Order: sequence, then C-alpha cells, then structure tokens
Amino acid sequence: MDVLEAIRTLRPCADFASRPLAPETLKKVLGAARLAPSQRNLQPWRFVVVRDDEKKRLLAQASPKGRLVASAPAVIVAFAVEEDIPVTIGGYISAYPLDVAVSIGHLELAATAEGLATNWIVEFNDEKVRAVLNVPEGIHPLALIPIGYPADANGKGKPVEDGRKSPDEIIAYDEYPW
Ligand SMILES: Cc1cc2nc3c(=O)[nH]c(=O)nc-3n(C[C@H](O)[C@H](O)[C@H](O)COP(=O)(O)O)c2cc1C
Repeated sequence: MDVLEAIRTLRPCADFASRPLAPETLKKVLGAARLAPSQRNLQPWRFVVVRDDEKKRLLAQASPKGRLVASAPAVIVAFAVEEDIPVTIGGYISAYPLDVAVSIGHLELAATAEGLATNWIVEFNDEKVRAVLNVPEGIHPLALIPIGYPADANGKGKPVEDGRKSPDEIIAYDEYPW
C-alpha cells in the first residue's frame, strides 16, 4: 500500500477483532514512529507498549474511551521527554507536541499499511496513566494508541473525504483570507 492509499484508508478504530498481534508486526509499526523527523532531531518521543491484560484494564479506567483501550491486543502509550523541549515556535510555545504527533502519524500510517487499525486518544487522566506505568517526573503522556486488527465493519461507512473540509476552506494563497 502506498502512503496516499494509507492516508485515504486510515480510520479511527471503533472495534477490534480478537485476532492477536504478532510482535514483529508491532515492531515494524514502531519502527516507522522511530524514523519520524523532529525539531533539531531531538526525538522527544518515547513509547511504552502495554500488552498485559491487567495493565490494560487499569489504563482503561483512566479514559472515557476505556472500552477500546481494554479490548485492543496492545496499547501504545506515547510520551514526551521534557528535557528535550526548547520553547521555539514564535518564541512562545514548544514544538514537542508536534514532534510526537508526527511520530504518531507515521505509526498510524504504517499500521494502516499493515492492515491494522488504531485510535488516537488524548482524553485520559494524567495521574492515573502515570500511576499504572510508573512514569517519572518530567515525562508527559501525550496519547493512548490502542492497536490491533479491526473488526470487519470498521471504516466501512463513509469515506474519509466526507468528513473533511473542502480545499477552499483551508488553503489560500498570498494572504490569510479568513
Ligand atoms: C491529536 C488527536 C487527538 C485525538 N483524540 C481523540 C480522543 O481523545 N478520543 C477519540 O475518540 N478520538 C480521538 N481522535 C480521533 C479523531 O476524533 C478522529 O481522527 C477524527 O474525528 C476523524 O475521524 P474520521 O476519520 O472517522 O472522520 C484524535 C485524533 C487526533 C489526531
């Protein structure tokens, strides 16, 4: 599958199949996240893969999307490392959420190309996630990413295109028109 096809078919997973996820497949997908570009090549991302059922159950209690977290064969928790984070964008904000987002984007597209489905969950209780995974100070959980094979019906409804703004609504030339 080429990258544009992966972009067109990437859908947030609403339901996972019970099929297990091979460690090599998971490694391949995480390998795509590892190769992402970042500001000054600081690579401020870290990923913890949670496969243990009890830990997934506890993580599920930290999010309103808990059903999805508990039902996935694995949950990848994405973190940012604070020491790698300078304030640079316009002099008022750090690029680290962008860096980690680019890396998660790579991961999701690679997963799609492997026939897997993911979701990207930012609604979670920070303290609970920290407690479950024993996260030290200075490390920030940014996303829970349940990953696995999708149940048959996943993404079979509307095409991605239907849910997106038109080019005219988001792209302009030479000045900001909105
Ligand atoms: C940065 C980011 C954060 C997201 N956070 C959540 C979330 O917390 N919970 C959730 O259910 N979906 C979350 N999503 C998934 C989006 O809701 C989903 O990608 C969007 O609605 C498009 O869905 P569609 O491809 O079916 O149109 C997130 C996606 C992104 C990129």
